Amino acid sequence: MEAKKRIFSGIQPTGNLTLGNYIGALRNFKLLEDEYDCLYAIVDSHAITVRQDAAELRKACLRTMAIFLASGLDPEKNILFFQSHVHQHAELAWILDCYTYMGELSRMTQFKDKSKKHADNINCGLFAYPVLMAADILLYQTDLVPIGVDQKQHLELARNIAERFNSLYGGTFAVPDGYFPKVGAKVMSLQEPTRKMSKSDPEETYIAILDKPEVIRRKLRRAVTDSEADVRFDPELKPGVSNLMSILSALTGASMDAIAADFSGKGYGAFKDAVADAFVAVLEPIQKRYDEISADKVYLEKVMLEGAERADRLAAPTMRKVRKKVGLAPTKL
Ligand code: TRP
Repeated sequence: MEAKKRIFSGIQPTGNLTLGNYIGALRNFKLLEDEYDCLYAIVDSHAITVRQDAAELRKACLRTMAIFLASGLDPEKNILFFQSHVHQHAELAWILDCYTYMGELSRMTQFKDKSKKHADNINCGLFAYPVLMAADILLYQTDLVPIGVDQKQHLELARNIAERFNSLYGGTFAVPDGYFPKVGAKVMSLQEPTRKMSKSDPEETYIAILDKPEVIRRKLRRAVTDSEADVRFDPELKPGVSNLMSILSALTGASMDAIAADFSGKGYGAFKDAVADAFVAVLEPIQKRYDEISADKVYLEKVMLEGAERADRLAAPTMRKVRKKVGLAPTKL
């Protein structure tokens, strides 16, 4: 039997995971769990590259794990863990720092954006963020990395670092490819539908996975549309309506034509109510499971400890190879 290909992805535990994270990431992760050997890390070490409230971040970490599980990810089939629980991430990141150039990191658009946003805290961790991400991926001899387009530049850097290291020392790392799922809509902001829906933007611009039905309905009623009244897919001229249509289509499987036909002549009010119903239908069962899982600390702890142990075991051989190749002192003589 051929070995399964390995998948690695990471999600930051900051803010509220959104419907965009569900459609773009979590729901697809679930679809990959039988065909691939998957690791999903909650990247808490990445989160502290910008200032966080410690108590809030700690809670957000656990909340994110509970959402992973509530979305249906099977912790036996997938390795679900916290990045900071597996010490090799930080270790490999340090070594790879020594094989990454300042010039490369200075060109990263996310670094430039975040430096503007956090001008009072342009720290070395923020600068080296993509190297830690490369370490996350390369530690596990990852074949495929599911990411959004905003992370393509970071993945390209990880590939370059892997190739550089391999050409210096001989084959050490698998060179990973991006994985861009076939199904899944690009989910845009409810208020500025030409921008991606983001958990770091204001509340009213996104639907959180844990938003209660009445909140979902309210946010949809206030979602930006246009001055016409017809439900028609036209991302250029009608980005707001088109965004809601593509989310609805991603959730229900209905085609754009079918959606347009269903709401022809009914106006935006009825359309938004139907979209809200579809969101609630998907999110309510997840929220119910979430409540159960987050109340069960024993289970959560078992999942996170086992995940970290399994990840540690996979990371160890890569780390041994790397230490030896770069000439760090052997731990056994
Ligand atoms: N930087 C990614 C993001 O913000 C999160 C991430 C960290 C990641 N490490 C990763 C994604 C490794 C894929 C693989 O979305």
